[in-house]
Amino acid sequence: MKLKYFSHSAFQITSSGGTTILIDPFLDGNPTSPVKSDSVNADYIILTHAHGDHIGDAFRIAKRCNSTFICTYELANYCKAKGFNAHDMSIGGGHNFDFGRIKFTIAHHGSQTPEGDYAGEAAGVVVTIDNTSIYHAGDTGLFYDMKLIGEMNKIDYMLVPIGDNYTMGISDAIKAVELVQPKIAVPMHYNTFPVIEVEPNEFKMELEEKGINCRIMSFGEEIQI
Ligand code: NI
Ligand code: MN
Repeated sequence: MKLKYFSHSAFQITSSGGTTILIDPFLDGNPTSPVKSDSVNADYIILTHAHGDHIGDAFRIAKRCNSTFICTYELANYCKAKGFNAHDMSIGGGHNFDFGRIKFTIAHHGSQTPEGDYAGEAAGVVVTIDNTSIYHAGDTGLFYDMKLIGEMNKIDYMLVPIGDNYTMGISDAIKAVELVQPKIAVPMHYNTFPVIEVEPNEFKMELEEKGINCRIMSFGEEIQI
């Protein structure tokens, strides 16, 4: 399958069977995204939480592509109320879709719709396709139960926020990766705005000193995994 990074927390996973899954597609209002929402397609859209830098252009894309949302219960209901298809789940629950398995994890963060309504708990997500697992940690602070996520799922790629202020900064993100023990860590949620400017090479170098692989994906880069 393929993993594409648009910057911030926005990724696209394309399964070998051709299913396209977007996670947190914040593109048009994202100063670092190399693409706009009208050039991406999605069979499914996973939202980790309802903040504007994660919902982003999800509704615009879903309308054009007839995408199905996958998110936690309250956020799925919000999508349904807007007239979209949504598969509701809860943290700790997994479901086998035709393309693979989705399981939501805890994340320590808030979640509020653009209208200011409470949108349930923020989450992380583990996407497993063809025996390869990607853990998108969402927006979160560091928590020790990440160790359990790594023990219960063999994580190949961990997409980990490093930008500080709203999420973990670099030192907490390094601890998070040590807890999860993925094959490869990919930094995200940084350098989109001045308040989350950090140096991703600092994260990469410190991880590599600890023997953990890190891949800094450039904005717009797609890799085969
Ligand atoms: Ni957030
Ligand atoms: Mn965010």
